[in-house]
Amino acid sequence: MSHVFSRATRDLPTAVSADGAWITDADGTRYLDGAGGAIVVNVGHGVASVIAAIGEQLERTQYIHPTAFTTRAVEAYAEEVAGILPMDDARIYPVSGGSEAVETAVKMARAYHLAQGRGGRSIVIGRRGSYHGNTLGALDASGKAPLRKPYTPWLGRFLHVSAAYEFRCENPQHPHGCGAWQAAELEKMIASYGEDTVAAFIAEPISGATLGAAVPTDDYWPAIAEVCRAHDVVLIADEVMTGFGRTGRWFGMDHWDIRPDILTAGKGTTSGYVPFGFAAASGRVHEAITGGPGFVHGFTWSHNALGAAAGLAVLGELKAGLIDRSRELGARLLEGLRSELADAPGVGDVRGLGLLIGIELVRDRETNEPFRRADKAAERVLQAARESGLLLYSSTGHVDGTNGDLVVLGPPFSLSDDEASLLLDRTVAAVRSFP
Ligand SMILES: Cc1ncc(COP(=O)(O)O)c(C=O)c1O
Repeated sequence: MSHVFSRATRDLPTAVSADGAWITDADGTRYLDGAGGAIVVNVGHGVASVIAAIGEQLERTQYIHPTAFTTRAVEAYAEEVAGILPMDDARIYPVSGGSEAVETAVKMARAYHLAQGRGGRSIVIGRRGSYHGNTLGALDASGKAPLRKPYTPWLGRFLHVSAAYEFRCENPQHPHGCGAWQAAELEKMIASYGEDTVAAFIAEPISGATLGAAVPTDDYWPAIAEVCRAHDVVLIADEVMTGFGRTGRWFGMDHWDIRPDILTAGKGTTSGYVPFGFAAASGRVHEAITGGPGFVHGFTWSHNALGAAAGLAVLGELKAGLIDRSRELGARLLEGLRSELADAPGVGDVRGLGLLIGIELVRDRETNEPFRRADKAAERVLQAARESGLLLYSSTGHVDGTNGDLVVLGPPFSLSDDEASLLLDRTVAAVRSFP
C-alpha cells in the first residue's frame, strides 16, 4: 500500500526518466508527452542548460527570505522577463505556481484601488468555463462548474460573464459582432453592480484546457480592454497556460497587442523544472500600490531564487527559436488534425493557436449535442492514446456543468518533425477509436 494521497483513482506507473518529448516508466515503456503534462513543459524534458542553472543556483544560495534580501537570480530574471512581457515597466512578484499568482494578482488589484481611497471596489469578474486555480480565491474567479461544486458554500464573492467561445457562442447575432456583444455583457455587469464596486476583470487570453483552446474573435480583446479602461477596472491577463510561447507568441495577449494592468504566469515559466510563477504589475499599478498603504501579502516561498534561475535558463532556450517553432509546428499540427478528423463521427471542432490545440468531442455533429458524462468520451480517448504510448490532456463538464468532452494537445516546442507526425497519427487513431 502506498502512503501517498494520490491525485489519481487508479494505480499509476512510476516515471523514472524523461528526455525531450518522452517519459519512461519503471517497466521501460516510453510515452510521447503530447501535452507537456498539464501544458507545462514548453522547452522539453532533460534540457542541460536548465538543469545546470538550477544546480549552480543551489550551490550559491538556498533559502533566502524575501523581506531580508533580494538575490541576483531574482533581479536578473525580473529584468529579462520585463523586457518580454506585454506591459509597460513591469514589476514581477515571484510565487510558487499559477494559483498563487492569481491570488496575488487579485490582491494587487484590490491594493491598487485601496491606494486611491476606493475601498468599495472588491468584486472580481471572471468568465464562465474559465480556470484560474484551485485555491479558494482563484477558484472563485474560475467558472468551471465541476471544480466549484463541492466548495460552493465557500464561494460566490466573484461574478462571471460568458467566455469567448465561438463553438457554442451565446451571442444571438453569432457569428457577427461576438467580441462587441461580449464586451457589452461585461459593461452591463459593471453598470448593474456599479463601477465603484468592481476591482478587476480576469480572463485567459485564449481559453486553456477548460474550454479546449477556444480562440476569441479578433474584435474581442480590444473591446474588453476598452471597457476595463473606461471604468478603471483592472485588467488581469491570466497567462499561466498561454505564456512563454505556448500559443506561438511570447504571450497570448501579443496576438492582439493588448497590454494588461496585471499578468499572471506559472507552468511555462520554468517549463516545470521547479515550481514557480509570478504576478506582474504594470509600472502604473505598481506605483499606485507602493504610493498608498502598500501591499499586504506574502508567501514563505515567494521571490525564490531557484525558480528564477530556472526561469532565466528557460528564457534562453525559448529565445533560441522555440517560439517560432511553437507557431509553425502548431499551425501544421492544427491543419493536420483538422484534415484527418474532418469526417470523424465524434469530433465537433478542432481549434487552437500555436501548440495549444483542443478537440471538442460531440455525440451529434449536426446539433453539437455533447456525449453523456456516463459515456466517458474524453477518458476513453485518453486511455486509447495512452495504450498507444501517447499522453494527452483532457477536460470535461464544460457544456452544462456535467457533460462536455475536450481533448487537449500541448507538446514541448522542441518536438522534431518525426515526433510531430507520430503525435498526429496517434492522436487521430485515439480520437477515431471512439465512439
Ligand atoms: C489559466 C490558468 N490559471 C491558473 C492555473 C493554476 O495553476 P496551478 O495549477 O499552477 O496552481 C492554471 C492551471 O491549469 C491555468 O491553466
